[in-house]
Amino acid sequence: MTKKINIAIDGYSSCGKGTLAKVLAKSLNYIFIDTGAMYRAVTYAMIQKGIGLDNLVELEKLLPSLSITFKHIPEDDFYHTFLNGNDIENEIRSMAVSNLVSPVSKIQIVRDFLVKQQQEIGLNKGVVMDGRDIGTVVFPNAELKIFMTAKAEIRAQRRLNELKENGNLSITYEEVLKNLNDRDYSDSNRSNSPLLKAEDAIVIDNSELSKAEQNELALSFAHKAIGKA
Ligand code: DC
Repeated sequence: MTKKINIAIDGYSSCGKGTLAKVLAKSLNYIFIDTGAMYRAVTYAMIQKGIGLDNLVELEKLLPSLSITFKHIPEDDFYHTFLNGNDIENEIRSMAVSNLVSPVSKIQIVRDFLVKQQQEIGLNKGVVMDGRDIGTVVFPNAELKIFMTAKAEIRAQRRLNELKENGNLSITYEEVLKNLNDRDYSDSNRSNSPLLKAEDAIVIDNSELSKAEQNELALSFAHKAIGKA
C-alpha cells in the first residue's frame, strides 16, 4: 500500500489555494481542510455574539463552545463549513467577515485553539490543508509544501467573479482589491505566525497558468512526494 502524506498549501489571499487543495484531495482521495474557513467561522461567531476584538474574556469563553466541521455537499460538489451544526458557508464569505477576519486571526488564543485542531486532523496523514502557516507552524514536517502566489490584480478579478456568481452584485473591483491588499499586508506583517514561505516549499505563481496546467504541476509534485515517503 502506498504511504499517505500531508500536503501544506500556503499563500496569499484568493490565489486559488482552496481550488488546488480540493483538486489534490479529490485525486488522491485525501481529506481537504480550508483553515481560512476556520478563522472565518470564529469571526462570524464573534460578530453574531457581539464580541469585539479586544474582549478576550468573552472570546476565551466563546471558543470552547464552537464546533467547526466540514461536509461535502453533493448538490454543488463543494465542502461547506458548519458551525455547531449550521451551514455557514455563505455567511463566512461575506464582506463583513472578510473585513474582520485578518485582525481576528492575529489573536493568539484563536490561533492556538485552531492550530491544535488542525494538527489533530493531520495525525493520521492523508490531509491537504490550505492556509497561511500550514508549512511553517501547523505541519512543519509536511512531506509536500506548496506556496502559491499570483498578481494582486488577477486575484482581485477572480475573487470578484466568485462573489458575483454567489449573488453579491453590489461589490466593486476596487473594494475587493483593497480588501486583498489590506489582508496581504496584515497577514504578512503580524508578529505571530505571519504568512511566510517555508524554506522547503515549492512556489507556484499561477498568474499566467491555466487551472489545468496548475493542477497538473501540483499533482506531479504530489506523486513525487508520495513516492519518496
Ligand atoms: O484563506 P482565507 O482568505 O479564507 O483566510 C481568511 C483569513 O484568515 C486571512 O486573512 C488570513 C487568516 N488565516 C490565517 O491567519 N491562517 C491560516 N492558516 C488561514 C487563514
